Amino acid sequence: MAHLILNADLKGPRINRNIYGHFSEHLGRCIYGGIYVGEDSPIPNTEGMRNDVLEALRAMRVPVLRWPGGCFADEYHWRDGIGPHAARKRMINTHWGGVVENNHFGTHEFLRLCELIGAEPYICGNVGSGTVQEMQEWVEYITFDGESPMTNLRRQNGREEPWKLKYFGVGNENWGCGGDMRPEYYADLYKRYACYVRNFGGNKVWKIACGASDFNYNWTEVLMREAGTKMSGLSVHYYTLPTSNWDDKGSATAFGESEWVTTLRKTLLMDDLLTKHDTVMTKYDPEKRVGLVVDEWGTWYNVEPGTNPGFLYQQNTMRDALVAGINLNIFHQHSDRVQMANLAQMVNVLQAVLLTEGDKMVKTPTYHVMDMYKVHQDALHVPVRLSCGTVERNGESVPQVHASASVDDTGVLHLSLCNLDPGKEAVLTAELRGIRAKSVTGTILTAGTMQACNTFENPETVVPRAFAGASLAEGRLSATLPPMSVTVLAIIGREE
Ligand code: AHR
Repeated sequence: MAHLILNADLKGPRINRNIYGHFSEHLGRCIYGGIYVGEDSPIPNTEGMRNDVLEALRAMRVPVLRWPGGCFADEYHWRDGIGPHAARKRMINTHWGGVVENNHFGTHEFLRLCELIGAEPYICGNVGSGTVQEMQEWVEYITFDGESPMTNLRRQNGREEPWKLKYFGVGNENWGCGGDMRPEYYADLYKRYACYVRNFGGNKVWKIACGASDFNYNWTEVLMREAGTKMSGLSVHYYTLPTSNWDDKGSATAFGESEWVTTLRKTLLMDDLLTKHDTVMTKYDPEKRVGLVVDEWGTWYNVEPGTNPGFLYQQNTMRDALVAGINLNIFHQHSDRVQMANLAQMVNVLQAVLLTEGDKMVKTPTYHVMDMYKVHQDALHVPVRLSCGTVERNGESVPQVHASASVDDTGVLHLSLCNLDPGKEAVLTAELRGIRAKSVTGTILTAGTMQACNTFENPETVVPRAFAGASLAEGRLSATLPPMSVTVLAIIGREE
């Protein structure tokens, strides 16, 4: 039995739609093959971008897209990716897989992709191996409308009007692949680089400083103390690995109930991690002006057997669906501080929402969760309190049910419920405060096995279906949630 108290009478803050953001790096088949195939490809495309992928991304409502990395960002020199394709530099992607990078997907192509899918661009600049001038000129090239060498260059390359660019990251993982720096050194560099990331015309850039890895609260402390007033956002990266061993992270599809519980337990750590980074930030920023930006999150397993280890290609199962649901619930609960999150990565890499092979594309279970949950974008967070049993395997335990709720602008209450138990249904009752509920409908994602996934041969093994297991009686909600399921309920009623 699980019992939930939902306080629709205590609404707020607003869940920033950017919590549903994505990340696309020049890594493996994320950009090339996954998104961009070139205009001459036999795969149907719009200006080189795959039509099937564009359509799926539009439907999912991607609010913001981060690019070009990742570790690639601190090796990327933007001028290599502008001008006629034939004249662009060919080079080796030294960080990811040692393959040829022909730079055919560059600034113009990325900003066009964002236009085509209706997402805000979030560009990550190069601090590790780039210059201040290079970063300054990139922003000028994209956003300046006056007379300048960069504007003229942009016009020569076929773009008359400047683009709007709201989100700009000043480096990526500068404690690691982005230059191996101490936080004190990076904080000084951040201020220097950020100083030249200018606002031109009506374009106002929201500058995001490189934040901590996982539980490194000292990094957050130093950045907030030294540069907190000069940033709009501070990032943090946290990946969910089933093991603690980077050389053997575990398989994406061959796992048992112990690995299931370990994975979900580790993903639940996101809650504590956000609380603690927020606590440090609040010391310097009690008004919560600076947003916490979880600009890389998701599962990270061993690559699929036989694939390039540098391509980070992995399958995606019901376990990933639960990871997605749990993390989105956590982000909702922290929406007073978390202003953006970017799932790593959008296509063919890590916890991808889409997988492609040649002209085929499948939507993963994670895609379906992001799609089902999109009703929470920009809605007012509604606090929920849950008491429930636990799922225990091999000395580890997780709560059976995980939930979050919000009310959208039309007054519809959405309650998202994850049943983490791979073997037992969860019988839930809920007291709905602040709303007189009239009707409930729902959508569910579940499967017969933990390892269920969508393949190119069987693309519809895990797909959302209508859910009829919820009912209302005298203002109370009851629902029976099947094992390993993610459910989103829409409750219509009148505010009390
Ligand atoms: O997403 C893969 C890599 O993980 C990114 O390039 C890097 O920022 C992180 O370590």
